[in-house]
Formats: sequence, C-alpha cells, structure tokens
Amino acid sequence: MSAGIDANPSGLPMLDRLYPLTRSLLFRLDAERAHHLSLSGLRTLENLEMLAPLVGELPDAAPVQCMGLEFPNPVGLAAGLDKEGNTIDALGRLGFGFVEIGTITPRPQPGNPSPRLFRLKDHEAIINRMGFNNPGLEEGAENVRRAKSFKGVIGFNIGKNKDTPNERAVEDYLLGLRGAWPVADYIAVNLSSPNTPGLRDLQSADNASALIAALKQEQMKLAHESGRWVPIALKVAPDLDDLAIKDLSKVFLQEGLEGLIATNTTIERAAVTGHSHASEAGGLSGAPLTSRSTEVIAAFHSHLGGKLPIIGVGGIMTGQDAREKVAAGATLVQVYTGFIYHGSALVRSCLEHLKKV
Ligand code: FNR
Repeated sequence: MSAGIDANPSGLPMLDRLYPLTRSLLFRLDAERAHHLSLSGLRTLENLEMLAPLVGELPDAAPVQCMGLEFPNPVGLAAGLDKEGNTIDALGRLGFGFVEIGTITPRPQPGNPSPRLFRLKDHEAIINRMGFNNPGLEEGAENVRRAKSFKGVIGFNIGKNKDTPNERAVEDYLLGLRGAWPVADYIAVNLSSPNTPGLRDLQSADNASALIAALKQEQMKLAHESGRWVPIALKVAPDLDDLAIKDLSKVFLQEGLEGLIATNTTIERAAVTGHSHASEAGGLSGAPLTSRSTEVIAAFHSHLGGKLPIIGVGGIMTGQDAREKVAAGATLVQVYTGFIYHGSALVRSCLEHLKKV
C-alpha cells in the first residue's frame, strides 16, 4: 500500500464531498437564483462529460415493475425541480431511476411574482408558491425529446393554466395528456398544488371521478392511435382527511387509475410555527412533511387494498425515510427538498436502503 496521501480518505464520490461547500455557497444566494444556477451547472457538467466521473459508481439496484413500466431503480426526482424538462440527462447521471418533469400547463405562464421560494434551513424545509411557472406543453415536450442519455423512466406532470376556470379544467388536462403522450413514459395529473387557486377542489371525489373518467377515455383513444400505452398517475395533497382518502380510493379503483403519487406539499404550518417564513403563503415541503406524508401513503394503501401502486414522496431526507415510505406501502419513492439539502448523497443513501427492503 502506498505511503502517499489518500486522495479520498472519506471514500465518498467527489460530487458528494463537494456538496457541503457547494450548498453553503448556494444558500447564500436567493433561493430561486440558486436553483437556476444549480441546474445550469449540472447541464454544463453533463455537456462536458464531467458529471459521470464526479458521481462515480452508484449502488447496484434491482429494477422495479410499476404501472406496466420497468424502473431501473425505485428512486425518482419529484416534479417541480426540472419544471421545463431540460435537465433530464444530467439528473439521470445522479442515479435517479426516474425523473418527473413539470408541472407543465397547456400554455406557457410566468407563475407568481417573486419572492416565491423560501428556505427554512433550521427545519430542513422549503415553502414555495411558484404557481406553475413553465414553458408550456409544446416546449416542454420538445425538451423531453432532446434528452439523449437518460435510460430511466420519464414522468410528465400536467396541470391547468391559472386563468382556466375550474369548470373547464378537464379541457386543460386533456390537452396535457395529448401533448405529453408522445414523449412521456407515464403522465402525472397534478390536482394538489396549493399555488393555483381552486386547484385542490378538483380532488373532491365527484370532481376527481369526472376528470379521471374523461382522461381514461382519451387515454384509450390515444393508445389506439399511437399503438403505445402511457399510464396515468394522480398526485394528491397531504391535507386530506381519512374520509376523503377513503372516498378517493373508491373512485381511483372504480375509474381504473393506474398510479397514485402521495404527496404534494402541505398548507399546514404547525411544525414550523415561529419561523420568520412560517406565514408565507404556499406549500411546505421537507422534514416537517415526512411523517404526515407517510401516514397518507399508509391510509391510501390500506383503503386501496394494495391494488394501486403508490409513489411515495414528502420529506424523504434520509435513506431510512425512503424505507419507511416503502414500508407504508409505496412501490417507488421521489425526493425534492431532501435533494436540495443533501445533494446526490441522498439518492445514493436511498438506493442503499431500498436494496435491503
Ligand atoms: C414542488 N412540488 C411540485 N409538485 C408538482 O406536482 N408540481 C410542481 O410544479 C411542483 N413544484 C414544486 C416546487 C418546489 C420549489 C417544491 C419544493 C416542490 C412538490 C414536490 O414534487 C413534492 O411533492 C413535495 O415537495 C414533497 O416532497 P419533498 O420536497 O418533501 O421531498
């Protein structure tokens, strides 16, 4: 053995060793600026073919079958980070088995005025009221087409434009389904963002039933025309009571929904009371959401009798949290806020922990 200096005494991959420093620099910047810088940095590294060597070897993972698709591993990136779908290849290099892009609305829209993204560092949390800032369906689909190297599953998350009234929301979701169909492996229907006024009313059993029925009809038509099948999953809020979960579960099974994504951000603030950002409007994510999201997954799993696969998301900050989501009934998991706080080391940790489930 060489008596020289060990270049990597921690045994951690370079990217994981650099992240604490990178994060402390990024956290000095405005949150939204840091977000854009990080994504463009990742894209640049990927274009220069420098990302893969920095990531190093990833833990082995067994593929998972879900919604009729094969996922190379069960750890995904949740919607809202790659809203435009232009960073899929770089994110894939970090070890994600699937990347969900969006939310994308039929027409481009700027989202809410800034500031609209807040870090609650002591709580390992984020509050956001971005309001579906996105480039619209056409550009979103074009961006997905440009992804080259990613071998995992691409989810395309669709929503409605802010100025589309709820009575016409179905039309926006049908446009989304048609626009995403040619490029998506699965389509996620987002009914649970707190940042589009009235959107969450679409989660009532009656509204959800009508929407899913319309989407399923269109899905059959598109499958017939295209010769391929794209499953539909619905994304729900954590702020549903047990009765609502029970009613929705019945609707999902009746209408033949193919997957459930639980959960989105919460409007609850109890866990962060007293923080200077606690009263900012928007959705709270990260550590304060961990246990509530797991409870909602367990409740859906129980009411659905395990008949519908669940993608578990909400406050996964460690590999152990990911494991608990799976123990509660999730087949796959997604991360967002934990990834901001812990970088790609979290993906690695989730892969390690889920190996042992
Ligand atoms: C989100 N999330 C989100 N979800 C979605 O379906 N469409 C979206 O556009 C967004 N946008 C978004 C922006 C920001 C800044 C955050 C922090 C989150 C919700 C996200 O996908 C996830 O469901 C929740 O954040 C809970 O998971 P984490 O963040 O606690 O791991």
